[in-house]
Amino acid sequence: MKQLTFRNGDKLDILGLGTWKSKPGEVYDAIRSAIKIGYRHFDCAFIYMNEKEIGHAFADAFAAGDVKREDVWITSKLWNNSHKKEDVLPAMKKTLSDLQLDYLDLYLVHWPHVFKKDFMGATKAEETWSTAEVPHIETWREMEAAVDAGLAKHIGVCNFNKHKLKALSEQASIIPEMNQVELHPMLHQNDLLEFCKENGVHVTAYSPLGSPDRSAGMKASDEPNLFEHPVIKELARKHNCTEAQIMIAWAMQRGTAVIPKSVNPERQLQNFLSTEINLSEDDMQLMASADTGYRYVKGQFWAFEGTEYSVDWLWNR
Ligand code: A2P
Repeated sequence: MKQLTFRNGDKLDILGLGTWKSKPGEVYDAIRSAIKIGYRHFDCAFIYMNEKEIGHAFADAFAAGDVKREDVWITSKLWNNSHKKEDVLPAMKKTLSDLQLDYLDLYLVHWPHVFKKDFMGATKAEETWSTAEVPHIETWREMEAAVDAGLAKHIGVCNFNKHKLKALSEQASIIPEMNQVELHPMLHQNDLLEFCKENGVHVTAYSPLGSPDRSAGMKASDEPNLFEHPVIKELARKHNCTEAQIMIAWAMQRGTAVIPKSVNPERQLQNFLSTEINLSEDDMQLMASADTGYRYVKGQFWAFEGTEYSVDWLWNR
């Protein structure tokens, strides 16, 4: 398995298991089976509302001797309503307690938006703080404190465009080590990837399969299905593998970590075996033709009139 190397030499398996949309009642078995298949990288978040059950699965896997804590990489994320300095470490400790862990391998700021404490899913301007009131660096100082306290080995961000990443990095003592963003064959984000590479920031691809299991409210009526994309279908035929394996292999070939979600052991195995597929230069060029910049997770749900939080602010400013 290809790995990403962090500044202190720590290594991360490039393929991990996503847990967004993995429901309580199914995520326990999903974690246990993924560990047995060989997954050693797990992507979690407070807002996925399943960290307690994931914690049980890890505790049981460690107790059963399936794997040791130090041999798995566990990522989690700070939710938008806990960006104020007094809220960051308590939020992180809640995640650690739910996951039954002493430390996280990686802790990420989930979104650049800041919500007031009582509003997990803000719906209007009054339920948010501006980034003038709660600047990203205020949150980041506490993320750095988590590293100093040994609660997180590495810290980073998600959904940060290059302008926000640059602004934060200029003030940070620990430059973000990871940026987790949506990436798949219809959304390459080459410019952001280049910026991250130049600045020593690793990138993780979320929604690598287009997240077809998003709730109806999060889906556009005319959204494309990556599994039906002609370029992906052609490459799957050529390599005698599945469309999912092409999408995952492509992400790894670009040097990004990738976290396909599956709660189904056969599909977990299928996804894991993507590591055996090598796409040629020609295949990669063909994939380049699929890039239309299409986002499945558009961020319009947190664009509030009377705030800075617009879709344009999120992705471009
Ligand atoms: P399931 O969990 O039942 O396997 P993403 O990682 O982009 O968010 O996509 C996750 C979605 O893709 C889930 O609906 C998941 O279903 C499905 N999925 C995961 N792996 C595969 C695969 N190999 N083939 C088809 N669908 C898959």
